Amino acid sequence: MTDLLASARLTGLAQAAYIIAGVLFILALAGLSKHETAKRGNVFGMSGMALALAATVVLALRQTSLPGFSSSVPLTVLLIAAPMAVGAVIGIWRARTVEMTGMPELIAMLHSFVGLAAVLVGYNSFLAAGQATGAEASGMESIHAVEVFLGVFIGAVTLTGSAVAYLKLSAKMNSAPLVLPGRHWLNLAVLLVSAGLLVWFVLDDSAAAIVPLAVMTVLALLLGFHLVAAIGGGDMPVVVSMLNSYSGWAAAAAGFMLSNDLLIITGSLVGSSGAILSYIMCKAMNRSFVSVIAGGFGSDGAVTGEARDYGEHREVQANEVAQLLANAKSVVITPGYGMAVAQAQYPVAEMTRKLRERGVDVRFGIHPVAGRLPGHMNVLLAEAKVPYDIVLEMEEINDDFGATDVVLVIGANDTVNPAALEEPGSPIAGMPVLEVWNAKEVIVFKRSMATGYAGVQNPLFFKDNTRMLFGDAKERVEDIVKAV
Ligand code: TAP
Repeated sequence: MTDLLASARLTGLAQAAYIIAGVLFILALAGLSKHETAKRGNVFGMSGMALALAATVVLALRQTSLPGFSSSVPLTVLLIAAPMAVGAVIGIWRARTVEMTGMPELIAMLHSFVGLAAVLVGYNSFLAAGQATGAEASGMESIHAVEVFLGVFIGAVTLTGSAVAYLKLSAKMNSAPLVLPGRHWLNLAVLLVSAGLLVWFVLDDSAAAIVPLAVMTVLALLLGFHLVAAIGGGDMPVVVSMLNSYSGWAAAAAGFMLSNDLLIITGSLVGSSGAILSYIMCKAMNRSFVSVIAGGFGSDGAVTGEARDYGEHREVQANEVAQLLANAKSVVITPGYGMAVAQAQYPVAEMTRKLRERGVDVRFGIHPVAGRLPGHMNVLLAEAKVPYDIVLEMEEINDDFGATDVVLVIGANDTVNPAALEEPGSPIAGMPVLEVWNAKEVIVFKRSMATGYAGVQNPLFFKDNTRMLFGDAKERVEDIVKAV
């Protein structure tokens, strides 16, 4: 009796800890939405996760110690501690070694683990229900059966979808969209057959219910592969954040299967914030949200970029750029993926400081998909201690280029490409871009005339007011810092 009472109290305490952890996660998301509060947001998130982990472990140990449990406390401790230790070692190693530019593929790989976990939890729920009521019957209530089926479905789609995103982002698979004949009908057929299998699974309370579950799992794995394979490299940023959203829903589904409120809250937070981010990115790239989540629906997936002759480009040297900057009143810097590759953010911050000391108005214009992950440039500039108030979003700065003396395009390409607005057949057509060519002078820092991520030539490089400063962005900016 006292044992039961103590157990009920402990469960109540754990639930309270879960609610506090849920609030901390919401505060974390709120904090992460602004530069100034992002660090605090991270601390909230870490504290919430530590609290949630501690409550879950205490609860698991307490349940194990109750009479009637087949496992012993030491064995449970071992079963929890061993995978946690292995996971922590791998996690710390990856966090220390991963380059910022390799983050999207790492995130995609981690999402596939969440999908796999949801599939395993689903099968475990199904098999455990069978064990509880005898192997002859699946013994699940209809609502629980629906939870298991949907959890496995979302998990399986997330698993293969994320694996394909990982392979495409790490260039281990061709990033061109896979265009199968009648591909949208194929997707629709998988959805309809899965709906039929769901009905079979719910109505069949024998152990044979594993058949519709297994068939659906195979179909969902194929669907995940096909949905993401059909999306071209240029839309990958949206796909990564969309898979982030799917992984959240998969975790929420696992929460329903395990009757774990915190997992439901956390999964829903990840699911909805991922969906909002995908929507924002779709808007930023002028892509239809529905089209991207339906695997490129509405587009024929073709890349129609053609090689054009834009004429000759002109070159400039670092000391000439230093001279230009010293005489300028207003300068805007638009960084891109190349700044991240070169790790040029520190000399860029130093150059900014020097110019501001001389009275030059220096600001940054950040495209929403500059770099390789959301907020990539903001993180790098914050790391180098560039003041937040001079770092502006694309829509905040786009109208100001006409009144700007010099724009420094540092390692950016697609995000400053006028073809997006001027060439309807271009693969990036319709994507809003930083309209840097409206400035008096444009200096482009890059190593060659090579194309950017989308593989499209950039007519900006050939405009009359553009000059190319070739070389590694970090070295060239350092040259300018010395000369200013
Ligand atoms: P990109 O179009 O990727 O172009 C980067 C440029 O940097 C390249 O043209 C490259 O030219 C130059 N570069 C590379 N290393 C350099 C170095 N060490 N020094 C100087 N320059 C260097 O860059 P962007 O404008 O940031 O556009 C981002 C692209 O990535 C978009 O197409 C976007 O859709 C896509 N994408 C974005 C995300 C997110 S969420 N941000 C995720 C995945 C993909 P050289 O080789 O000639 O030097």
